[in-house]
Amino acid sequence: MAKVLVIGSSGQIGVELIEQLAKIHGSSKIIASDINLNLNRNLQGVTYLKLDVLDKIKLLEVIKKYNISEVYLLAALLSAVAERNIQLAWDLNMKGLFHILDLAKEKYIKKIFWPSSIAVFGPTSPKLITPQTTILEPSTVYGISKMSGERWCEYYFLKYGVDVRSLRYPGIISYKSPPGGGTTDYAIEIFHSAIKKGRYECFIDKDIELPMIYMDDAIRATLELMNYERKKLTVNSSYNISGISFTPKEIASCIKRTYPNFSISYKPDFRNEIALSWPSSIDDSYARKDWNWSHQFNLEKITSQMLEGISNSEA
Ligand code: SER
Repeated sequence: MAKVLVIGSSGQIGVELIEQLAKIHGSSKIIASDINLNLNRNLQGVTYLKLDVLDKIKLLEVIKKYNISEVYLLAALLSAVAERNIQLAWDLNMKGLFHILDLAKEKYIKKIFWPSSIAVFGPTSPKLITPQTTILEPSTVYGISKMSGERWCEYYFLKYGVDVRSLRYPGIISYKSPPGGGTTDYAIEIFHSAIKKGRYECFIDKDIELPMIYMDDAIRATLELMNYERKKLTVNSSYNISGISFTPKEIASCIKRTYPNFSISYKPDFRNEIALSWPSSIDDSYARKDWNWSHQFNLEKITSQMLEGISNSEA
């Protein structure tokens, strides 16, 4: 029986994606791999492996041994950490993708999910309701790697028939596992800090609006896309996807409704520049039209889920 391989399974998305994939396919069908395995979070029945996506020989061995048909390639350096490690970011984000695309081209794998990001947009892209097809001049290493990756995904689909599907994730908000070093991480840190310290020092300015999505919505979008009929998909690179947009000031005032004494201050660092280069809101009408996408979590719902989830897990 064919199995599903998740690469980057210890990361923010990986941990929660595996839970859902195990529900859908059965845990014995899921192979979870990461360069750093987090053994505290193991799900019963799932096979956990240490694997570096840059090691193509080992990767092929795993794919053959477990008869893998579907791969979720989540291993990547995100925007903030990538700026501090340009070469590793490019190598991991690009070579990792090539390894998987080539294995699909050589017919070892049938279907791939590869996440792109709002980071493909840059200062010259339209800021509001940013369209699917528009100027892509990203100013971060992460954005450049994601933009290039999108082009390669479409190329492999058109030239070799590789079934690779992708979403341009906005900032993903969740509490079950820590975020991986992105610019949108402030919208997660703020909840932890509100609960622990009653205050938060934000590394981007109060009025910068960014597109965000709650983890449950992001995972549902991913699985809906992966399970949709390929013929009906009209975007062969990566779909714009959106949930909501808000500023640090707005999220802080939402937290204040539950924690009236919560206070926020602002000390922008290099991530402020990254945030300024990204859109404020995203037009995801292709996803809505093609496979009926719609988000379910607004800012109020996200805030209550995050405050409750973090309080319970720390209790
Ligand atoms: N959350 C990501 C980041 O901030 C955007 O894709 O890097």
